[in-house]
Amino acid sequence: MIRFDHVVKQYGKSNVRAVDDLTFQVGKGGVFGFIGPNGAGKTTTIRLLTGILQPSEGHVTIGGIDMAKDPIAAKRLIGFVPDASEMYDRLTGIEYLNFMADVYGVSKPDRKAHIEKYLALYDLEDAAGEQIRSYSRGMRQKLTIIGALVHQPPIWVLDEPMVGLDPRAAHILKEEMRRHADAGNTVFFSTHVLEVAEKLCDEIAIINKGSLLAQGTMEALRDDAQGTSLEQLFLELTEMEAVEE
Ligand SMILES: Nc1ncnc2c1ncn2[C@@H]1O[C@H](COP(=O)(O)OP(=O)(O)OP(=O)(O)O)[C@@H](O)[C@H]1O
Ligand SMILES: [Mg+2]
Repeated sequence: MIRFDHVVKQYGKSNVRAVDDLTFQVGKGGVFGFIGPNGAGKTTTIRLLTGILQPSEGHVTIGGIDMAKDPIAAKRLIGFVPDASEMYDRLTGIEYLNFMADVYGVSKPDRKAHIEKYLALYDLEDAAGEQIRSYSRGMRQKLTIIGALVHQPPIWVLDEPMVGLDPRAAHILKEEMRRHADAGNTVFFSTHVLEVAEKLCDEIAIINKGSLLAQGTMEALRDDAQGTSLEQLFLELTEMEAVEE
């Protein structure tokens, strides 16, 4: 469903490769976790994957569609929850969700069903009529998630989605991610919480300095690391890099 072929990203005139010759594939029917130190290139990769940034070199393909050739068709397949979303503070929650549904051309009955279900699930019904500027950080995050998925896209892309969520909301989101993948769809997310990655993901990639250090199922990574935890593997792989310099 997601394919990166030798993707490079340099911001502006910078010589630094925020993403450096990245090649990987993510299939259908799985939760794919993306982990790495601060500044490793996770958000950059996610912005390339969602078509917000264009690669300096290489190709991004979504569901067989080349993002550079047909960005609108490729983006339609994706629901994207950014790490820090710019929201329209003067809209109410419900106005925002209807706005997102309009953007994606979601029918009235479909949007009604989605919005009612998820406002209830995330305990946001009472706040839905209030302006977003009165929302807490976690309430904004919940609204962003509901809005991003309103068009029921097959591919969910989430940049540190648990940040700011209370334990109940985080639990619901994790269940939803699992359910979406089990229904044959694709979930790609970044996180710093290795316990979440370890429990939730079918496959994990570790990125540092724009390059993949490891990719595979949890079992495969454990075998490589002779049975140690993901935390130990993460520390070892990212430390080796630091020492090599
Ligand atoms: N808009 C930008 N302009 C210039 N450089 C940028 C920009 N955004 C990111 N970078 C650089 O690209 C590299 C990768 O950053 P990125 O935000 O992708 O990391 P990340 O893995 O998401 O980190 P974090 O865990 O802190 O969210 C860093 O060196 C960063 O300084
Ligand atoms: Mg980031």
